[in-house]
Amino acid sequence: MKSDNERRQNDSLNESMAFNPYVKPAKSSRSGPIFTVHPYPTKINYRAIVPFILAHTKPGDVVYDSFAGTCNTGFAAAACFKPDRSLLADLGPTDYSKVMWGARNAVCVDLGVLPTFIGRTLLKEIDIDAFIQEFNKTMSSVEGNWGWMYETVDDGGNPGILRYSFLSDFIVCSRCGSETKFIDLFVDLDRGVFLDSAVCESCGAPISAKDATRAHEVIYDDLVGEDRSVTKRRLFRVFGKTHRRNWTRDPIDQDREVLRRIDGVLLSGMSSAIPILTGVPRWGEMYRSGYHSGITHLHHFYTRRNFLALSALYEATSLMSPEFRDHFLLLVSSYNASHSSLMTRFVFKKNSSVPVVTSGQPGALYVSGCPVEKNVFLGVRKKLRELSAAVAEIKTWRPRVFVFTRAAQNSGLEAGSVDYIFTDPPFAGNIQYSELNFLSEAWLGSYTDNRYETIVSRYQGKDLTAYEKLLSDAFRENCRILKPGRYMTVVFHTRSDEIWRIVQRSIINSGFEIVDSSILDKRQASFKQTLTVGAVKKDPIIVARKPTGLVDSSPPEKPSSIEFFLRRRLSILERDDVIERSSDYLFSRYIGACLASGLEVNVSADEFKRRLERIAELREGVWHLRDSEK
Ligand SMILES: C[S@@+](CC[C@H](N)C(=O)[O-])C[C@H]1O[C@@H](n2cnc3c(N)ncnc32)[C@H](O)[C@@H]1O
Repeated sequence: MKSDNERRQNDSLNESMAFNPYVKPAKSSRSGPIFTVHPYPTKINYRAIVPFILAHTKPGDVVYDSFAGTCNTGFAAAACFKPDRSLLADLGPTDYSKVMWGARNAVCVDLGVLPTFIGRTLLKEIDIDAFIQEFNKTMSSVEGNWGWMYETVDDGGNPGILRYSFLSDFIVCSRCGSETKFIDLFVDLDRGVFLDSAVCESCGAPISAKDATRAHEVIYDDLVGEDRSVTKRRLFRVFGKTHRRNWTRDPIDQDREVLRRIDGVLLSGMSSAIPILTGVPRWGEMYRSGYHSGITHLHHFYTRRNFLALSALYEATSLMSPEFRDHFLLLVSSYNASHSSLMTRFVFKKNSSVPVVTSGQPGALYVSGCPVEKNVFLGVRKKLRELSAAVAEIKTWRPRVFVFTRAAQNSGLEAGSVDYIFTDPPFAGNIQYSELNFLSEAWLGSYTDNRYETIVSRYQGKDLTAYEKLLSDAFRENCRILKPGRYMTVVFHTRSDEIWRIVQRSIINSGFEIVDSSILDKRQASFKQTLTVGAVKKDPIIVARKPTGLVDSSPPEKPSSIEFFLRRRLSILERDDVIERSSDYLFSRYIGACLASGLEVNVSADEFKRRLERIAELREGVWHLRDSEK
C-alpha cells in the first residue's frame, strides 16, 4: 500500500520495533472491568495501548503519558508483564516471537484531580476480601440510618424498595402562562419518542422542546440559608421491587409522605453549600440558561433524597480504616458521576416504547426535562463487583506505575529519561474536563488546577492560539524528556482542518518529526463523538520521533491533492474492505498522510466528504472510484 519513498522513510521506525502495530487500525473496545468501573470521558481501553508499548519498548523501559487521564497507559505498561495473545489478536498476523513480554515502568501525568485519583486508587495494593467486608459493614450501617428514604410499597400495598423514579419538569406557555408537565408535552410514551415540539394544552400556542421555559417555584434552601427560585419538578412514575419482583406504579400518598419526611431533614447537618466553580450564577463554559437555571450550588444537581444518601456515604468514609477509604470513595464517586444526579435520564431504544434508564450524557452536564432519580444505595452496591474484578486484574501484573497530578508542561522528569510516549491530548474545546470533574471533585474535597488545562474555553479565556501554545509547550516537554531516536504515539481527533494544523505545528515546532500514522477505532463511538460537530468516529494515530541529529534523506511522498490521495488509495484497497473504504477512515488516513509528509491539513471532514463524493460513489455501503476516475 505504501510507495517506495514511504517505505524507506518508515524503515527506521520498522527496525526499531518488535512488530508494526500501525499497519492495521487498533481497536479500543468499551468493555472490561477496568474500562467500566468508572465513567471518565474519552477513556482508551488499556488493551488497545498494549501492542504499541510492546512494539516500542522492552521490559524495564520507561513509558510516559503526558495527558494520562485515568492511567490506561500505565495499566497497559503493567499488562505487558505476562504473555496474553488475545491482547495482540486484533492486530492480525504478528511476529509474536519478537515480542518481549515483561513489565514496563510507567509515569502517568494528568492535571485532573479526579482522573489521577481513579488511576492511583486502582493501582493501590488492597486486600480485596477485607475491603468487601468493610464495604458491607459500612453500607449496612448507612442503610440502617437512611434506608427508609428508599422504602416504599408496591401496587398491592406490600413493602418494597424504590429502584428509581421518573420526574418531570413543568413548562410554562409563553403565550397564556399555563403550566404543563414536560412529560405530557414532549414525550410520546405510546410510540417511545421524545418530541421536538408540541402545542400548549390551554391555548394551542406552539412550544419547542429546545426553547421551552421551565416553570419555577420558591422554596427555602436550608443549605444556602435563603429562599430560592428552583425548577418546578414532580414525581410521575415509580419503579420498585418487592423480594425479586420488579414493579411500577403511579405515585401515591406514601411517596409524598416520604418526600415530606426528607424535607424535614436538615441538609446543613450533613453537608455545606458548595458553589459551582466561581459561584457566579452563570458558572462556566457548560452552563445553559434553560436547564441549569437555579443551579448555583452542588446540591442543586441532585434530588434532596439522593444528596442526603451521598452525603451519608461520604460521611461514612471518615469512620473507615484508611487503607479502604479511597476504594470506597472510588465506588461512590463512580456511581455519583453517572447515575446519582439529576442528569440521569431515560431514553427509548429504536422501535421500542419501553423507557430505558441510562446515565447522564458523558462529557456533558445536560439535565433532561424528565430526570430519573435512582436508588443510590442499590447502585453503589452493584458497582462492587466491577471494582473487585478490576483490582484482581491489576494485581496480577505487579504494576510499577507512578501517577502525578500535575501539568504536562512541566513533568518534573529528567531530560532523556523516557523510552516511549503514548498520549491522548484533549481535543480543543470538545470536553471541558475540569468543569466536568467538579461534580466529583467537590465530594473529594480537592479541585483540578486548570491554569495549564490544554483546552479551548471562553470561560477560561483560552482561544485556539492559547490552546496551541499549551499543546506546543506540552509536546516540547515530551521531546525534552524522551531519549533521542525514540517515539511518541499521539491519538487525536477532530473534524476541523484548523485544529489539525494546530496539532501538526505543535508536534513539529516542539522538535519532533512525524513519521507515520494509523487509526484507533473506538468501535462504538463515544456519545460526544456521535453528537459533537468537531468530532469524528475514528481517531487518527500519529507517530512522531525525536530526531537523533541525523537528517532523513527521503521524506515520505506528499499527497499532492485530496483527489490524488483518494484515487490512489481507493485503487489499492481490497474491493470489499468495508472499514478502510468508509469516509471516516479515508479522512483519517488522509490526515495521517498529510501529517507524515509535512503537508498542511487544509480540509475539514465535511469538505473532504464532498470531494470524495465527486470522484467516488457508494456501492453496497462502501466507497469506490467512479468508472470515469479510474
Ligand atoms: C483525552 S483525555 C485522556 C484520557 C485517557 N486517555 C484515559 O484513558 O483516561 C485528556 C486528558 O488531558 C488532561 N489534561 C488537560 N490539560 C492538561 C495538562 N496541561 N496537563 C496534563 N493533563 C492535562 C485532562 O484532564 C484529560 O484527562
